Amino acid sequence: MSNQIIIFDTTLRDGEQSPGASMTVPEKIRLAHVLEDMGVDVIEAGFPVASNGDFDAVSNISEILKNTSVCGLARAQEKDIARAAAALEKAVKPRIHTFISTSPLHMRHKLQMHPEQVLEAIHKSVSYARTFVDDVEWSCEDATRSEVDFLVKAIEIAINAGAKTINVPDTLGYAIPTEYAALIRTLRERVPNADKAIFSVHCHNDLGLGVANSLAALDAGARQIECTINGLGERAGNAAMEEIVMAIRTRQNVLPYHTNIKTDHITKASRLVSAITGFAVQPNKAIVGANAFAHESGIHQDGMLKNAQTYEIMTPESVGLVRSDIVMGKHSGRNAFRTKLKELGYDLTQEELDKAFQRFKDVADKKKQMFDEDLIALVDNQLGQEDEKIRFASLDIVCGSNTEAKATLKLIVFGEERTTSNTGSGPVDATFNAIRALVPHTATLQLFQVHAVTQGTDAQAEVTVRLEEDGKTAHGQGADTDTLVAAASAYIHALNKVLVKRERHAVDGVASSLN
Ligand code: KIV
Ligand code: ZN
Repeated sequence: MSNQIIIFDTTLRDGEQSPGASMTVPEKIRLAHVLEDMGVDVIEAGFPVASNGDFDAVSNISEILKNTSVCGLARAQEKDIARAAAALEKAVKPRIHTFISTSPLHMRHKLQMHPEQVLEAIHKSVSYARTFVDDVEWSCEDATRSEVDFLVKAIEIAINAGAKTINVPDTLGYAIPTEYAALIRTLRERVPNADKAIFSVHCHNDLGLGVANSLAALDAGARQIECTINGLGERAGNAAMEEIVMAIRTRQNVLPYHTNIKTDHITKASRLVSAITGFAVQPNKAIVGANAFAHESGIHQDGMLKNAQTYEIMTPESVGLVRSDIVMGKHSGRNAFRTKLKELGYDLTQEELDKAFQRFKDVADKKKQMFDEDLIALVDNQLGQEDEKIRFASLDIVCGSNTEAKATLKLIVFGEERTTSNTGSGPVDATFNAIRALVPHTATLQLFQVHAVTQGTDAQAEVTVRLEEDGKTAHGQGADTDTLVAAASAYIHALNKVLVKRERHAVDGVASSLN
């Protein structure tokens, strides 16, 4: 049996279903390029029947990618499968991924189907998907709470109908590693035609075991892992790709497997996902957190100076973090700026670079030294705000202990300039009231968080805002040396995400019924 592991990235589908995360079609295309460059084998680009936006994302990505398989998700229904097939028409390597629940709980309450009907639906859906493409993946949703005898029957039918990949999801993140590995082993042993398909794992992280479960299944014969960048995904998220591939790379003695992932692209992918979703990565997150390679205690620093391996099991360079001595300031030129951004994992187009350089000069004028964190905040902010329908133009504030706070705000709304002045109980309140006056909406503010990107009173403030509308949340981030400008940018970023969600869910509510 080959020890090559297929990496199936579902950041654009399961990841985007994360409450508060949403991506526009251009953002998805940008991320798909990054995933292809990093060596991902299969990209699940969306759920085409769920909305026109999902359809367009799958269709555009299909047209663009040359090496990576593009996959579209479909329930066990003809209209879903036909829509996925249409979206994948131009893909060099199209894959349809169809699924149905197999647990007694889901069959009875969610599907309201008898087990026999579910078995029939499996046969029909996989056979129908095979009329469009050769590469069909089938998933038994909520597999880890399903009866093993039933799973054996269901998988045998799916393989007989032509499924080439059998995915066994731990949909609710319920499994424990030994138990999950045993399930995969049992299925491979008991399903009569198991050798005709690749077994795949898809682990949610509700108990914090998504990565552990995925890795445990390799020894039991799983050869595809479904995962997301930064562990993005429904509820507590999916297994994090960066943790899986770095565990395999770092622990070859106990995990003798290989992936096609170029691990030095990890930092770039992580930053892009964070920038476009507005989801900050926690500082202590494995592999991609700001502290993942930081050493503060004296003992550790001393050890590191003597030999880096004393406290480092992988190098920062192996995940694309480059240590560098280039210090940036207002006199730094475009070339140094470009080199620095490359080191930080950003590969910008000429147009993006020009914009970022202009912004860098503006910020550097106000700050003595530009630290790496400043540049990251600046570029993330820019990337996160591309293609926005509502854009920040300017903000002037009057406030103080003896004055009522007043914000004069200019926005570009769908290409049209709008200005207003509003008061509030403080400068942030006045600013947000001005946004509400210029772009009336019903979304409510759920979170407003400020942190300084670096030390010092001239530091950039990074603001996170969460808005909620009709039970759907959206995150936005903004960074600036002026905290109120950062706050306005973060609110506007989140509001743009609300618009994307609104459009998406205007079509129907299919996506929200998935895990
Ligand atoms: O978690 C899950 O079961 C899923 C399926 C659609 C594969 O995301
Ligand atoms: Zn899932």
